[in-house]
Amino acid sequence: MAQKKPIFILNGPNLNLLGTREPEQYGNHTLADIEAECRALADNKGMVVEFRQSNHEGELVDWLHEANDAACAVIINAGALTHTSLALGDAVRAIDVPVVEVHISNVHARETVRHHSYISAPAAGIIVGFGTMGYALAIDAVARWNET
Ligand code: DQA
Repeated sequence: MAQKKPIFILNGPNLNLLGTREPEQYGNHTLADIEAECRALADNKGMVVEFRQSNHEGELVDWLHEANDAACAVIINAGALTHTSLALGDAVRAIDVPVVEVHISNVHARETVRHHSYISAPAAGIIVGFGTMGYALAIDAVARWNET
């Protein structure tokens, strides 16, 4: 039987610092905590995750391209690149696998510069402001798509 394609969970700049970075905004969970929670949840639903983080825009673009063949869906928290990167928006638009955009904080309650996202329009859905639980909600959404 063919191996199931993983969900790519991609994290952008500075998210490697979760746990110590602005805990009032992003909470106390580290990225490793989030990865462990995502793996357990996906496993429970019979899915696998490929969990990655990069501080480099081009690497995230390359991973989105790779996901087109290698993943069943993408969950992406692009960090600040969300608000600045037309290239990431174009990459999401260029691929056929569904992309869920996640933000830990409620970006709409923050500075105006964080209200715009290059990823939101081409994304299949957006999960914003639920803290690190947003990743779990996104996995649940992908699992429900896969059931239908
Ligand atoms: C973030 C929100 C962005 O505005 C910020 O630059 C981040 C994290 C979030 O998860 O809330 O790095 O994407």
